[in-house]
Amino acid sequence: MTATLIHGIRSLVTNEPALARDPSAPDAPLGLVADAALVIEGEHVVWAGPAADAPAADTAYDVGGRAVLPGFVDSHSHLVYAGDRTQEFNARMSGRPYTAGGIRTTVAATRAASDDELAATLARHLAEALRQGTTTLETKSGYGLTVDQEARAVRIAAGLTDEVTYLGAHIVAPEHDGDPAAYVAEVTGPMLDACAPYARWIDVFCEQGAFDGDQARAILTAGQARGLLPRVHANQLSYGPGVRLAVELGAASADHCTHLTDADVDALGQGDTVATLLPGCEFSTRAVYPDARRLLDAGATVALSTDCNPGSSFTSSVPFCVAIAVREMGMTPDEAVWAATAGGARALRRTDVGRLGPGAYADLAVLDAPSHVHLAYRPGVPLVTEVWRRGVRAV
Ligand code: NIG
Ligand code: FE
Repeated sequence: MTATLIHGIRSLVTNEPALARDPSAPDAPLGLVADAALVIEGEHVVWAGPAADAPAADTAYDVGGRAVLPGFVDSHSHLVYAGDRTQEFNARMSGRPYTAGGIRTTVAATRAASDDELAATLARHLAEALRQGTTTLETKSGYGLTVDQEARAVRIAAGLTDEVTYLGAHIVAPEHDGDPAAYVAEVTGPMLDACAPYARWIDVFCEQGAFDGDQARAILTAGQARGLLPRVHANQLSYGPGVRLAVELGAASADHCTHLTDADVDALGQGDTVATLLPGCEFSTRAVYPDARRLLDAGATVALSTDCNPGSSFTSSVPFCVAIAVREMGMTPDEAVWAATAGGARALRRTDVGRLGPGAYADLAVLDAPSHVHLAYRPGVPLVTEVWRRGVRAV
């Protein structure tokens, strides 16, 4: 197999602590290497380290003194959808609060769309995310809410990404208004049967106006019994049982984590469940940001993702989320970049992405900047100039 040396890397984020100059320094988790090189073979990284120590390779590629980091791992999006929520956003910016009710608008439009239209929209968003450095993207169903509609959503998603989440439990389907128990029976019965073959994950929106703690537990445990792994929309709009349920069930991630009690923070600090923060959502709903500092100080693992969806967070830009997390949520630039790469990988229980060391996929973002810190230092500037995915330059 041909070995390619990627050199001219002024600053390389590997997320391999063993490569850090000083293992006790605060930036050690990033495994930063100055004047670095990578060797890739096929789809994988086979070597990373100082350019001066690089092994021989068959070909060479010069990134011209730029910074390189692992491609972003966006572990939370809702991109099997149709329709538009511009009016709802406009109303919100005039003072109307965000509620789960807006989801119904997208459900109606999604049900009316063709398979081709839904697939084309998802493909367009994947390409948009890739241009901004995202090389792994999870996406969910949740705008169908009938057996057939949810099944086609996860099937379409599975055709375009490896990380598919069944979110039949987004809200109670309009057909079951006033009878949530009947809808939970559908979500845990025929809908689960139809969706499980296409999905890796099961999710539930545990929130007032969506599903309570008991319903969420029934939904997640039914998914687990079918081999799906749980993740939870937890504590987004109000305090509630979502985070502690996620930790108790060993969920890979509790997502949002905006309204947390001390007990919630302690649970995340002590458990293995990643706290995935989605600042695009608070930005676009004009809400209070989650407190990343409090979670990090308690020992929690924090991931940053976009939550890209047409209602609460219509951004596919991980760099935008990194900049907000640094400015508004108490994260250092190093912590935010780790959270958007290695953190996302943890939230998806992946060890083959989110890092640039031997055995990882050669998924990398090249910045037109001297270091990863510029992602927060230069907000809104499109610094990602080159993206490699699976060993091939894609952008
Ligand atoms: O993660 N919280 C629930 N679901 C989405 C919003 C979906 C929508 O408003 O369409 C979220 O924010
Ligand atoms: Fe979400």
